[in-house]
Amino acid sequence: MRVMAADIQPLDLIRIALLTNPRVEKLYKLMRNILFCLPAETSHTVALRAMDIAYHAHLSELLSPPASSLKCPLTVMGIEFPNPVGLAAGLDKNADHIDALAALGFGFIEVGTLTPLAQPGNPKPRLFRLAAQQAIINRMGFNNKGIDYALERIKSSRFRGVLGINIGKNFATPVERAADDYLICMRKAFPFASYIVVNLSSPNTPGLRSLQFGKELRSLLQKLKQEQGILAAHYNKYVPLVVKIAPDLTSTEIDLIAAALLENGIDGVIATNTTLERSAVQDSPLKDQSGGLSGAPLREKSTEVIRQLCQTLAGRIPVIGVGGISCGADAAEKLAAGAVLLQIYTGFIYSGPDLVADCVKAAVSCGQSQT
Ligand code: FNR
Repeated sequence: MRVMAADIQPLDLIRIALLTNPRVEKLYKLMRNILFCLPAETSHTVALRAMDIAYHAHLSELLSPPASSLKCPLTVMGIEFPNPVGLAAGLDKNADHIDALAALGFGFIEVGTLTPLAQPGNPKPRLFRLAAQQAIINRMGFNNKGIDYALERIKSSRFRGVLGINIGKNFATPVERAADDYLICMRKAFPFASYIVVNLSSPNTPGLRSLQFGKELRSLLQKLKQEQGILAAHYNKYVPLVVKIAPDLTSTEIDLIAAALLENGIDGVIATNTTLERSAVQDSPLKDQSGGLSGAPLREKSTEVIRQLCQTLAGRIPVIGVGGISCGADAAEKLAAGAVLLQIYTGFIYSGPDLVADCVKAAVSCGQSQT
């Protein structure tokens, strides 16, 4: 059959141009330089749309390394992961881009934070790039379209890999009623999640971090654990419960959190969220922007929290390490500190999909694969 010129769609032309371009490996860096000329939040939206277009045009393989270089299978919390490098929460809050992101080689994807009701988050601007420091400050404030919307997106996606659903409380819900919001989200997310993350560590929702401590933490974990049992029996499916913590904790606080997680049979812990500390970005004109700092300046602090947590937990609860991973060596550092799985966000924004492969290679070198 002859192909007429009129049959060729614009996307086909882009695809042919890219496939025949010997410098295609520079594609992400070129795109990034263009995107970085835009305000941070606009470029975030445009980049995700571009990834969707690349995915639908079957171009994702041009942005990421071959799947064979991304194999490092392991089983954690009873879940089989193709590799230990996941996408951290916050990039795809509403689960709008799961397929496109998964095509870039992540071993697992975490969506959210999702709240029972849609909410707009904080006023813009609320996302700042500190390019010289390879960092981001954000005070997004759980902007999301609500758990129901995200679940519809999950249902209509093709993705069948490991999916974490990260849940939180609405801004308007008083912190004393936070458990109600987590329970609403947990009940809805349970049938669709590989694991559920209880986010107690965003610095941008007033009072949220107080739930990491004392009787507030114990009471919340008890309620969630009880509900997990009821839901597991109902759906005949066990969905691990994972708690995400902040990096801004004293060593006593880390030990107390570890004890509460153990006491309540929590299945995993993600360390860490963004930091309020600014000591590593004193040179930046943006250092006084309020919000959470992520990326390279967070690395050391997050690794120290992981190290202490892993020592205290002694392998009884797996730790997912996140915070400032910008290269394979950073991934190896987190694994050496005791993390069994990793997540990336800010490093992915600065380095692109190659970072996934670099981290998987580091994990293979560290002997992380179990098969
Ligand atoms: C985040 N992060 C985040 N975490 C979370 O649990 N729920 C969320 O909604 C968000 N939102 C969010 C937005 C933005 C713009 C950023 C940069 C980060 C935190 C993220 O998942 C991760 O824990 C930290 O960013 C640390 O990892 P990196 O970015 O240093 O790799």
